[in-house]
Amino acid sequence: MRQINASIDVDRRLAPQDLAGSRAHAAMLARQGIISADDEASIQRGLDLIEAEIASGAFVYDAALEDIHMHVEARLAELIGPAAGRLHTARSRNDQVALDFRLWVREACDRVLAGLEALQRALLNRADEAADALMPGYTHLQSAQPVTLGHHLMAYVEMFGRDAARFGDARRRMNECPLGAAALAGTSFPIDRDATAKALGFDRPTANSMDSVASRDFALEALGAGTIAATHLSRLAEEIVFWVSPGFGFIALSDAFTTGSSIMPQKRNPDAAELIRAKVGRVLGAFTQLTVTMKGLPLTYGKDMQEDKAPTFEAFDALELSLAAMTGMLADLTIRREVMAAAAGQAFSTATDMADWLVRTLNLPFREAHHVTGRAVARAEALGVTLDALPLAELKALDPRITPDLADVLDPARSAASRVSYGGTAPDQVRAQIAAWRARLA
Ligand code: ARG
Repeated sequence: MRQINASIDVDRRLAPQDLAGSRAHAAMLARQGIISADDEASIQRGLDLIEAEIASGAFVYDAALEDIHMHVEARLAELIGPAAGRLHTARSRNDQVALDFRLWVREACDRVLAGLEALQRALLNRADEAADALMPGYTHLQSAQPVTLGHHLMAYVEMFGRDAARFGDARRRMNECPLGAAALAGTSFPIDRDATAKALGFDRPTANSMDSVASRDFALEALGAGTIAATHLSRLAEEIVFWVSPGFGFIALSDAFTTGSSIMPQKRNPDAAELIRAKVGRVLGAFTQLTVTMKGLPLTYGKDMQEDKAPTFEAFDALELSLAAMTGMLADLTIRREVMAAAAGQAFSTATDMADWLVRTLNLPFREAHHVTGRAVARAEALGVTLDALPLAELKALDPRITPDLADVLDPARSAASRVSYGGTAPDQVRAQIAAWRARLA
């Protein structure tokens, strides 16, 4: 029973939140005349001592005391005597743990928000430098049209921006204080829930005492936002993995973010990127685990809910580390402009530009232009040349009105520069998006 019941190995991480909650609760109890000022002073002094013991490593943890709440209360009694017993007036471990966990998740959201912003800034810096660096744009991982690396990186700035918005929303919704719900029904003591909510940085107290102790959707929401963010991280990580592979060679990672092989001396492996690619499993795992734990639970508190913390802690540890590693890796990597630019012109990547030229210059319907271009590509492929190296006679055989001007639009740099529609890949558009994001983050 002791083994299955104890949560101290996990919830000892809640000590700072538990102490903060107890300080606010004790101060409120004294202000409301529920405990004496002397008792409150002893309690606050005792909580300070416990905080120092935890910081110095002197605090003793014992599975027999179950969880962090019992540990603090028991040690407080040893330190200050009977006054310790007054701290738990008008409070239950049910609202206490709901508060502690909510405070922890709120802080985790703030750390993730800071991490997302740092990552966006790293992306913006590299995007700025690569606003006109050509690379192949892909669909189906087949070379589609030339784009710029700046444009590609800015796609992630958008994704991480929405992730930040999701965390911001989740944080706003969770910012209500459950303390004072007591076991489940509220309390007969004249507590001041607005005061404790304010002292702990909440917007207001939660409005229903049963919901307060029974709900963990604040954590689910943060884990949901985290799962999506980790998914975005894994996509960027995967792209980095193949960008550094010899087949691509678009970028090089520094020694700081790669490891050597124990047998093959020539290898530098992108381990950080691979690990980021994998970490999403932990975050989604935590979301799944907590969803299944909460599913079908009758109101209000059930000990099942003690299982909420381990996955949540693990998920946020993974997410925060992934954000930091990705930010460092981006700041550090080398962009190989010439390799990317050469690849951008391969695989008939400007075929769409030829079709567009036929529409614009010869007034062909797009479908027919598409067809003519397809035949040009087939001829070029058969002759083993690029589209712009196709002899004019070959082109004239497809449509006699084709002139040498066509060659101009087949240049990948011109192709990218021509995509000037809002949100398009033209370097000026990319620079405008970078400026807009910089202003947004400022
Ligand atoms: N360790 C418990 C948890 O994490 C604290 C709440 C215990 N409440 C109770 N009524 N047994 O959920």
